[in-house]
Amino acid sequence: MEQRERQDAPIGVFDSGLGGISVLRACADLLPQEDFLYFGDSANAPYGERSLEEVRALSMAAADRLLKQGVKALVVACNTATSSAIVLLRQTHPELPIIGIEPAVKPAAQGGSGSAVLVMATPLTIREDKYQKLAASFCDLADVISLPCPGLAERIEQGHFEDETLDAYLQDLFRPYRDRDVEYIVLGCTHYPFIRRAIAKNFGRPVTIIDGSQGTARQLRRQLQARGWLTQRTRPGTVTFQNSDPEKIALSKTLFLR
Ligand code: DGL
Repeated sequence: MEQRERQDAPIGVFDSGLGGISVLRACADLLPQEDFLYFGDSANAPYGERSLEEVRALSMAAADRLLKQGVKALVVACNTATSSAIVLLRQTHPELPIIGIEPAVKPAAQGGSGSAVLVMATPLTIREDKYQKLAASFCDLADVISLPCPGLAERIEQGHFEDETLDAYLQDLFRPYRDRDVEYIVLGCTHYPFIRRAIAKNFGRPVTIIDGSQGTARQLRRQLQARGWLTQRTRPGTVTFQNSDPEKIALSKTLFLR
């Protein structure tokens, strides 16, 4: 591919479903001239309760689908797919910049005063080695509490952003941690930023809530800049949504603009 053609190619972003739109938003805000192609695999969500092998196969298929459409970089906008499949994706496509996302444990541990950091993520992310190593590497700085949230991404995928069933779920989830000195909540699944308000409300005490989307967007820009692959166009970029469940396209657009 010619350099110019490469610079003007779209950036592929994928997630198990709607969650990665929170990362897409951060990327599009930082790189407003770029074109983005977003693939949500809602027909196969949630990834976080599947086996490692299944998530690897689904991630490879999502990457292939975007590569066939000529993307110049791939953002794995899913903590679960990043922890399970990013090594394999990079081995398979060594020429392609592949940017993942991981729970923002580092800024939370470094920003706090040694108290607790509560990391919310899918069961598979928390089980994986990549996360376990990350959490262990900051345990001197903070009390890192790992909180698997089975069923939560699925609720969000079904459009529960703020309602009584979600409140009841979060109340039960947080109950054991109410008396702990929690300073930060890390949203370690890209679906969770869409329920940030419900999380803050149901945690019930002042807490700083962070996610990794800005860091991923900055890493994307660094990688493209280093290769000279940023677009030189000055017109506003476009965002195209694709989904393995076509009924999710309308909600995808709404979430992006929210
Ligand atoms: N959004 C994904 C993540 O960041 C996973 C949600 C799921 O499909 O379980 O982990």
